[in-house]
Amino acid sequence: MPGRRPWDQDGALPAARAALLEARGIVVLTGAGVSAESGVPTFREPGSGLWARYRPEELATPQAFARDSRLVWEWYDMRRQAVRACAPNPAHRALARLLLEREDVTLVTQNVDGLHQRALEDEADERAETNPKDARTRVLPLHGTLFRVKCSGCGRARDHAEPVDTTSLATLPRCSVCDDLERPDVVWFGEPLPAVTLERAFRAAGVAEICLVVGTSGQVHPAASVATVTLESGGRLIEVNPHPSALSPRAAWRLRGPAGEVLPRLIR
Ligand code: OAD
Repeated sequence: MPGRRPWDQDGALPAARAALLEARGIVVLTGAGVSAESGVPTFREPGSGLWARYRPEELATPQAFARDSRLVWEWYDMRRQAVRACAPNPAHRALARLLLEREDVTLVTQNVDGLHQRALEDEADERAETNPKDARTRVLPLHGTLFRVKCSGCGRARDHAEPVDTTSLATLPRCSVCDDLERPDVVWFGEPLPAVTLERAFRAAGVAEICLVVGTSGQVHPAASVATVTLESGGRLIEVNPHPSALSPRAAWRLRGPAGEVLPRLIR
């Protein structure tokens, strides 16, 4: 059909756009792919994915931190610096507009890069939106964030965006209350997700008529169950991903293109 995008072979875009407009309640579930066009690496893609190049059990478990805190911090600080040099892309911006325009949208992200939050601040600034707070509280980072730390002893968390001196154990950040080492406030393998955030994500998924799934392989639970909860409550899925994922067979509409191209056209 003339005018159809190469990634929209089956012409799903107009129908998906209409479904999104008409939906009462939208939950968006994002994964690493939404940040790929910002230059942030994904996890499972052959060759370029982080888990193809690094071993998670050496870097992203409580045992790894107990064994070699300096090494773990070196890896996380490298990722923090890399992400700081990246900017939100048109996919993050389109989702930020959706959050600002509709109160019935909740964005659940598996990403720890803070790019959804930065896009929201940018969009709110551009609109001179004085109270984007409500939209901010509807961004749920299920796996934590690179720019907070929490004490490995007492669990006290705080914002922390400055570079970490990883030259020795003595230079790593420490808790001002109990003096234990602080660690990145991200969810590691074998750890539970933050209970309140997960509960809010499932509640939003349960009342949403549409779950918009963007850039995730759908292989990691409970995050991927956000989509299942919407399906089991009678809602439908729109998937945006250049490649098939574990959730593709259950999607009503599949848009097989990069998020930065598809989302600005899907969310008008
Ligand atoms: P994955 O690396 O598993 O999947 C990334 C997905 O993004 C793939 O399905 C790609 O096809 C897709 N993708 C790539 N480029 C894209 C683009 N430009 N637009 C849209 N999609 C694109 O990443 P996640 O599913 O996010 O957990 O991984 C889930 C969790 O596994 C992560 O949060 C992390 C990891 O272990 C923790 O660290 C706790």
